[in-house]
Amino acid sequence: MNDHDVAIEVRDLFKIFGPQSERVFPLLKQGKSKEDILDKTGCTVGINNASFKVHRREVFVVMGLSGSGKSTVIRCLNRLINPTRGQVLVGGNDVMKMDRDELVKLRRAKMSMVFQHFGLLPHRTVQANVEYGLEVSKVDKGERAQKAADALELVGLKGYEHSYPSELSGGMQQRVGLARALANDPEILLMDEAFSALDPLIRTQMQDELLELQGRMHKTIVFITHDLDEALKLGDRIAIMKAGAVVQIGSPEEILTRPANEYVRNFVQNVDRTKVITASSIMRKAPVITIPKDGPRVAVRAMEKLGSSSIFVVDAERHLQGLLTIDDAIELEKKQGGKVESRMLSEVYVTTVDTPISSLLATALGAKFPLAVTNQEQKLVGIIDRATVMAEVLENGGENEPTPLEEYQKALAEDDQPEEEKAVASS
Ligand SMILES: Nc1ncnc2c1ncn2[C@@H]1O[C@H](COP(=O)(O)OP(=O)(O)OP(=O)(O)O)[C@@H](O)[C@H]1O
Ligand SMILES: [Mg+2]
Repeated sequence: MNDHDVAIEVRDLFKIFGPQSERVFPLLKQGKSKEDILDKTGCTVGINNASFKVHRREVFVVMGLSGSGKSTVIRCLNRLINPTRGQVLVGGNDVMKMDRDELVKLRRAKMSMVFQHFGLLPHRTVQANVEYGLEVSKVDKGERAQKAADALELVGLKGYEHSYPSELSGGMQQRVGLARALANDPEILLMDEAFSALDPLIRTQMQDELLELQGRMHKTIVFITHDLDEALKLGDRIAIMKAGAVVQIGSPEEILTRPANEYVRNFVQNVDRTKVITASSIMRKAPVITIPKDGPRVAVRAMEKLGSSSIFVVDAERHLQGLLTIDDAIELEKKQGGKVESRMLSEVYVTTVDTPISSLLATALGAKFPLAVTNQEQKLVGIIDRATVMAEVLENGGENEPTPLEEYQKALAEDDQPEEEKAVASS
């Protein structure tokens, strides 16, 4: 990772709440727990030696139980809270070294915050709420009206400019909060439990909208939540906090497949992993033949050696061309000068590396051959055997809900029942 691609870097950060906080450091060194330290000193360990980097244009989620230090961390980023020790670099600049003016500038122009309870001014219209930050930054009237209108349009609130916050639903009020944060076009958005106060349905909708917006805006977003599903859905990477410490940082897939400890495992155990684990983690290396270089003879030998009944065909750049079965290859071999292209099947099942395996099940059940996995350039990067998909889905489906396979099997079983039996069963 190039330094240029790091939006925020936190180094060895500590925040101790309470009097004479320096007393706490020797105790932390001895490995004393947060509870012990509170008992002994009356100080609360808010952040305990946290280090992480937030990459430009990623959604970086901070997750953890209540009291684990999430809000304290995000507030140290713009120094709403002063860390006790450690460094915070934003775009390479040390925020601890900034004077008042520089801090004000940082908060107004570089990173904006969206709060859990919206934080709107009740006596101002929607438009005036969105303009607020620009107003205090002394942006002139015409420009700020334009910027506010643009931001409101971005969040789908065009037409509500003259409403008051109390006239809007929770979801709409949070859109105003988001528009206000976006009005300055900041590089970084800090969102502390921004969707936690919303009804589940609205919350899901806001998550979708944020992802859609992010697809166009490419901001750097630090998003705090204690909800694992939200973290998995929104996060490019997730940092998990416990008692002020960062215990694991990884992609959603890494967190699910390789939890660092019991605490993380407890978080993830009830998740339906098939919705997050992707084709890339269950694929295996794809044996191939390359055209025009390889002919039927090479294909037959390769399949014999592998003990497989088919093989994928690629071109010199590894673009997927099709699939050749052993029977067709043998026949071609008998014909003098038979070309692989003439018998190759071009209708093969293809999936992409980032497809969740829950979505592969239907395909795997219908396929006669392994599934081909391609990357963004349509190059073949692996194959997945049908049995692997089924095994994964069976093993890793959520514990409470039936897995897609179980549902499918149930549906099959119902269809198999003879009509009379069905009548008996239901009477
Ligand atoms: N101003 C403060 N004074 C004293 N202790 C504080 C203060 N702010 C936070 N704390 C303590 O620091 C720890 C971390 O709190 P923080 O608010 O960062 O947790 P959180 O992960 O955001 O929790 P939640 O999910 O409930 O919002 C907690 O033990 C909390 O009691
Ligand atoms: Mg909090």
